[in-house]
Amino acid sequence: MGRMSEGFETLAIHAGQEADPQTGAVVPPIYAVSTYKQDGVGGLRSGYEYSRSANPTRTALEEAMAAVEGGARGLAFASGLAAEDTLLRTVCKPGDHVIIPNDAYGGTYRLFAKVHERWGLHYDPVALDNMNAVGAAITPKTKIIWVETPTNPLLGISDIAALAELAHDCGALLVVDNTFASPYLQQPLALGADIVVHSTTKYVGGHSDVVGGALVARDPELGEQLAYHQNAMGAVAGPFDAWLTLRGLKTLAVRMERHCDNAERVVDLLLAHPKVISVLYPGMPEHPGHEVAAKQMRRFGGMVSFRVAGGEAEAVEICNRAKLFTLGESLGGVESLIEHPGRMTHASAAGSPLEVPGDLVRLSVGIETVDDLLADLTQALS
Ligand SMILES: Cc1ncc(COP(=O)(O)O)c(C=O)c1O
Repeated sequence: MGRMSEGFETLAIHAGQEADPQTGAVVPPIYAVSTYKQDGVGGLRSGYEYSRSANPTRTALEEAMAAVEGGARGLAFASGLAAEDTLLRTVCKPGDHVIIPNDAYGGTYRLFAKVHERWGLHYDPVALDNMNAVGAAITPKTKIIWVETPTNPLLGISDIAALAELAHDCGALLVVDNTFASPYLQQPLALGADIVVHSTTKYVGGHSDVVGGALVARDPELGEQLAYHQNAMGAVAGPFDAWLTLRGLKTLAVRMERHCDNAERVVDLLLAHPKVISVLYPGMPEHPGHEVAAKQMRRFGGMVSFRVAGGEAEAVEICNRAKLFTLGESLGGVESLIEHPGRMTHASAAGSPLEVPGDLVRLSVGIETVDDLLADLTQALS
C-alpha cells in the first residue's frame, strides 16, 4: 500500500479510504449491495462479484485495519468471535493443541471449551506471564499460543515479543487478541505476533453501536488462507457495520488518549478508597506486568478492575448504585460502563479454571468529564 511511513492517525483516517472514484465522496459509501453487474461472463468491473466474497465498504475497513496494525491483510467479520472461529478453522485441525491465557475472555474460553473441543481441538489454559509454564505446556501438536494482553477482566500482561519467540521456536503461531489495548496503544505484529484478533465492537468501533470483529495477518500467504476461509465460512461484516466501524477507527487515537487520561484519574481515586482492596491497572508501577506493559504499550488503556471489601454482595451493590457508569457488558465505547464480571461477562467461565473472583468490579472508563465520573464512583462506593 506504500503507506507504512505515515503516522497512526493519518492511516486510520485515510488508508483504504480514497475519495470515491465515481462521486468524489470523501468517505467510503455504504455499498448496500449483494451482487455486481459483470461485463460479459467472468468480466468483473472492479474485482467485486458477490458481497460475501468482498464488498467495497468492507474492503475499506479491512485495508484500514491492516494499515493501523502494520499487517499484510485485514479481514472484517460479523463479530470478534466470528473472527476467532474463522482463524481457528483456518489454522488448526482435529488433534491440534492451543495454549490459551488462564484468564482469557469468557467467550473466547467458551469457544474453545464448548465448540472446538468437540471437534478435537485441544487447549490448555496457562498463565502466560510465566514463560516456564508456557514452555512446559507446549506439545508437538501446539499450533497456536493465543495471547490476550491486557487480559479481560484481570488486566494481566504478557510479553508479546518473548512469547512470539517461544511460539516460533516450536513451529507455532502467536495470535494476539488486541481488543483491550487497541492498535493505537499496542502493535503486536511489530513485536513478532503472526495474527492480531479484534473485537472491533470495543475501542475500534468506539461508540457501542456496532458488533464486529477483525483479523490482521503479518504474512500475505497466511492472510490469503484466512481470506479464503472468511469467504468459505461467510461470517463477514455487513456494509453498514463496516462503515460504522470505519467511522469509529478514524477517531481511535484521540479517544484512546482521553480514555487513558480518565482511567488514570479513576485509578488514583480507587487507590485512595478504603473500600477498595486492590486495583488492577497495568499503568501502576506495582502491577506485576507494569514493566512489560511499559515496553510494549504506548499508554495503559481505559480498562480498570478492582476488588472490594465485602465480597461479591458489595461488588454487585456498587455496580447497582452507579449511575453515570452505565451497568452493562461490553467496553471501549465513549460512555463509561461498570459490570460484575463473575455474574455478567465471565459467567460462562464459572466453575472452570478461568472463574473470576466474586469481589471483582470492572470499569470501562469512558471519555466523559472526568470529575463527573469520579463523583459517580464516589457515590457508588459509599
Ligand atoms: C478481549 C475480547 N476478545 C473477544 C471478544 C469477542 O468479541 P465479540 O463480542 O465482538 O464477538 C470480546 C468481547 O467482549 C473481548 O472482550
